[in-house]
Amino acid sequence: MKFFIDTANLDDIAEAQALGVLDGVTTNPSLMAKEGITGEANILAHYQKICEIVDGDVSAEVISTDFEGMVAEGEKLAALHSQIVVKLPLIADGIKACKYFSDKGIRTNVTLVFSAGQALLAAKAGATYVSPFIGRLDDISTDGLNLIAEIRQIYDNYGFETQILAASVRHTMHVIDCAKLGSDVMTGPLSSIKGLLKHPLTDIGLAKFLEDYKKGNQ
Ligand code: G3P
Repeated sequence: MKFFIDTANLDDIAEAQALGVLDGVTTNPSLMAKEGITGEANILAHYQKICEIVDGDVSAEVISTDFEGMVAEGEKLAALHSQIVVKLPLIADGIKACKYFSDKGIRTNVTLVFSAGQALLAAKAGATYVSPFIGRLDDISTDGLNLIAEIRQIYDNYGFETQILAASVRHTMHVIDCAKLGSDVMTGPLSSIKGLLKHPLTDIGLAKFLEDYKKGNQ
């Protein structure tokens, strides 16, 4: 299972990368705005910085909503760095753009996916990644994890190579449940990754080992 971090915060990205378990980064316009990154030149420069920190794929989202605009933006983003994956919204023009990029060998991440039917369309258009937003489904009392299971079943039935990228992951249980369901990737905040480290018995056990070592080596 690949671990992506869902942020545009360079410190968080560097911390996850230093932990040695990071496979990539996802961003979106909201995450960029949260870091105060505005204006095309600054946004492109920020993607460049992210690519320099991590080794893996970096999703960069278009803001156009028409096919021509998405193609122009996506080509610019893809040309920026070999690690960039063009992130496209699941709307008709996004699906068309996904097909256009997949035919050209440019990697894509189809985002804002909330149903199995949408995920099927993304796979048929040749998406590299599909991003079902599990946390936002949970927010409206719908089972986000069930969507991961449905997409897994559909993709396995037909051998689609599109990777399921569980997005809008909010906490460690989402990560573990996505792993159980066979999600190829998860993207979440740094806390969802670091939270996996925690167990009180680990802390108690380590303290005891160190205490016993001290006693024996005085
Ligand atoms: O990857 C999608 C993600 O950024 C959405 O997360 O927490 O805003 O629903 P959230």
